[in-house]
Amino acid sequence: IKITIIDREDTKHPIEVPTDMGLNLMEVCKASDLPVLGTCGGMALCSTCHVYVVEGDNLPDPSDAEEDMLDQAFFVEENSRLGCQLTISDALDGMVFKLAPAAE
Ligand code: FES
Repeated sequence: IKITIIDREDTKHPIEVPTDMGLNLMEVCKASDLPVLGTCGGMALCSTCHVYVVEGDNLPDPSDAEEDMLDQAFFVEENSRLGCQLTISDALDGMVFKLAPAAE
């Protein structure tokens, strides 16, 4: 599938991602050298993988763990999600995400 990530300088990064590797969006950002820390390793405990959904609405609802973490994160908007909780699947094809500002 193809997704697009918009970085903090508003540069668009179209990325081809395989769906059969069980990757999540935080891992994809890191593998693409985008400035996403993923400090907690994808445990929904740090919010450094915070992204906004810019286009597409096929995502499953956030888990309680994701919502709890987003409650404590900075710059949270209606369309905020934690990248590490978004498993890459066909549902994400064509979606566009934007990196949230770094909290630090
Ligand atoms: Fe820590 Fe997603 S990597 S919350």
